[in-house]
Amino acid sequence: MIGLRADGRGDRGHPAGDSQKPEPDRPPFALPRVMGHRGAAAVAPENTLAGLRTAAAMGMTWVEFDVMLSGDGVPVLFHDDNLKRITGRKASMARTPFAELAKLEAGAWFAPGFIGEPIPSLEQALALAVELGVTPNIEIKPTPRRDAATAAAVAETIARCWPEDRPGPLISSFSRQALGVARDRVPALPRALIAWRLPRDWEAAAETLQCASLHLRALRLRAKTVAKVKRAGYQLAAFTVNDPKKARRLIRFGVDCIITDRPDVIAAALG
Ligand code: G3P
Ligand code: MG
Repeated sequence: MIGLRADGRGDRGHPAGDSQKPEPDRPPFALPRVMGHRGAAAVAPENTLAGLRTAAAMGMTWVEFDVMLSGDGVPVLFHDDNLKRITGRKASMARTPFAELAKLEAGAWFAPGFIGEPIPSLEQALALAVELGVTPNIEIKPTPRRDAATAAAVAETIARCWPEDRPGPLISSFSRQALGVARDRVPALPRALIAWRLPRDWEAAAETLQCASLHLRALRLRAKTVAKVKRAGYQLAAFTVNDPKKARRLIRFGVDCIITDRPDVIAAALG
């Protein structure tokens, strides 16, 4: 079994554990020029099905969203450890069972037109992504100390719900532990290491985790850093860029993909 590199050669893959079923070969991995962030977070409530639909309607073929575990272990689309900012309920994600989460409001905080949007499960989001023809960039965003469990649940859900003949999904994370579990459970899926700035040991980490791409914060991302990552053969995404001028500059540096809350604006600016 192989893990795919940015070039799709799949030459540095880790063998699956003995207990793992062989994975089907999938088409080579290539980042798009523009990717919606948390759906299309400036235009629709983040990490909701409405967000996925909005991004797709803007022509996005890829969408990033965050995934964490409910109190009872169901992977759901959500960004914060606490539910307060999005739902108004002061409670932690890690202690709230899915049945409770499903009753909460995740659209009203954003705009009245989105009242009634729920917190979706990963399973619901994958089903919609298939319907819309969108490839997900699943950011594993574990609540404290649930890195391995979150990655295992994400891997299980993808293996069960994502069609074998479709590219992706991409699994990305700041958590190296989560990426390690993803590498071992679903080795053929591409992985991305996310970081605020390029870590000193990035090459060793990317090699060990068999990453296809690096996703770096755009703020203070320099041309020199971009060149270094590209020279090593990795794809590179920058987040979160909502200013067309900045997006154009990063693309000139050699960045492959702009992750943005404003996919319509950035796609138009980049042509
Ligand atoms: O995928 C990169 C980006 O989403 C990481 O930051 O906090 O928006 O999840 P955050
Ligand atoms: Mg994210």
